[in-house]
Amino acid sequence: MQKFKKIVFWFLVGFAIIQFIPIDKANRPIDRRKNFIDVKKTPPKISELIKNACYDCHSDETVYPKYAYIAPFSWSVKSHVNEGREHLNFSVWETYNDDLKRSMLTKSIQTIENKVMPMPAYIIYHKEANLTDAERALLIKYLEEILKSKTY
Ligand code: HEC
Repeated sequence: MQKFKKIVFWFLVGFAIIQFIPIDKANRPIDRRKNFIDVKKTPPKISELIKNACYDCHSDETVYPKYAYIAPFSWSVKSHVNEGREHLNFSVWETYNDDLKRSMLTKSIQTIENKVMPMPAYIIYHKEANLTDAERALLIKYLEEILKSKTY
C-alpha cells in the first residue's frame, strides 16, 4: 500500500510539473488576400463546413479546445496543428503554386471521401466537424468544381 501511495504521489507531482511546459497558442495574423475561403469567395454554407471541419488544424485560425490547456493532451493537439499546417495551410493558399494547389485539392477530396479527414479522434470532441455523408458530398463537389475549372 505504501508503495502504491508513493507511485500515485510521484505521478501527481509529475503531472503538476508538466503543466509548466505550455504550448504556443498564438495564431499568426490572417491575410484575407491569401486565405482560401476569401480568395475563392466560397459560398457561406461550404465555408462553414471547411471552417468547422478543417480550419483548426489547416489554418492560422485555430480555436484551441479546453483539453488543449492540459498537458500532455496539449502537446498532442499542438503537434497535430503544426503537422496539419505543414501539409496544408488554407490561410496561405495564395502562396501555393498551381501544382501544389492541384495536389492539395485532389488529396483533400480523397481524404474527405475516405473519412481520413477530419481526423477521427478530433471528431469525438468536435461534433460540428462530424460531417454527414451529404455534407461530405457537398464539400467534395465544391472542390472538384475548382479542380475542373482550373481556377485554383
Ligand atoms: C485535428 C486536426 C486535423 C483536422 C481537423 C483536419 N486535418 Fe488534415 N491533416 C492533419 C494532420 C496532422 C495531417 C498530416 C498527417 C497525416 O497525413 O495524417 C493532415 C494531412 C492532411 C492532408 C495532406 C495529406 C498528404 O498526403 O499530404 C490533407 C489534404 C488534409 N489533411 C485535408 C484535410 C481536410 C480537407 C480537412 C477537413 C475536412 C482536414 N484535413 C481536417 C490534421 C487535421
